[in-house]
Amino acid sequence: MRDSMVTILPAEPEDVEMFYRWSSSDERHLFTCRETYPPSKDAFGRFYISEINSNRSRWFKVQRNRGKRMVGKITMFNINPRNRSCELGMFFEKKYRGKGYGKRAVALVAEYMFYQMNMNKIYAQTGAFNEPTVALLESLGFKREGVLRKHHFADGKYYDDYVYGIFESEWGENR
Ligand SMILES: CC(C)(COP(=O)(O)OP(=O)(O)OC[C@H]1O[C@@H](n2cnc3c(N)ncnc32)[C@H](O)[C@@H]1OP(=O)(O)O)[C@@H](O)C(=O)NCCC(=O)NCCS
Repeated sequence: MRDSMVTILPAEPEDVEMFYRWSSSDERHLFTCRETYPPSKDAFGRFYISEINSNRSRWFKVQRNRGKRMVGKITMFNINPRNRSCELGMFFEKKYRGKGYGKRAVALVAEYMFYQMNMNKIYAQTGAFNEPTVALLESLGFKREGVLRKHHFADGKYYDDYVYGIFESEWGENR
């Protein structure tokens, strides 16, 4: 999958080091309210291999077309074939944020999940303070479905988490 700026490629076993680096960023407690990944590289490696081989997840790396540099990842997890929903995760390296790569990559992966994987809904959970994530989701037409009050513990404080979702039938409505 590609557009004029980014190419989306499936995560491969040999990408484990890169995904470990992205998944063990020292900001990760800001990106998820859940337990963060096990800190050891071996434990992450086992988790990574089981995720990329699972039919409950799809992990992708995002390549910038110019220079072919890998700039981040998109993960689709909690794939639920019963209600045809899946959850979105994303992470881009700091120096490549705010340049439009994230939005393009999420759009390409969402189209794959809706039209190739037959998903009906994509949802995402984020700290209310995570302005780039909120902006990206809203600008792609995701709707805020709920607030999990004081659900995100980071740096000694509790913050609200937002849950966003979009249906296949809504995709592209606002763009
Ligand atoms: C969240 C993240 C994936 C967004 O990707 P990105 O490449 O930085 O975002 P883009 O440049 O594609 O911008 C997407 C939209 O958000 C807006 N945006 C980007 N950075 C912003 C910021 N710091 N503040 C407010 N809005 C911002 C853009 O203007 C754009 O909206 P528009 O198209 O309506 O103008 C990226 O910033 C990131 O990896 N952050 C750290 C990890 C993280 O928070 N993951 C999500 C956990 S739930």
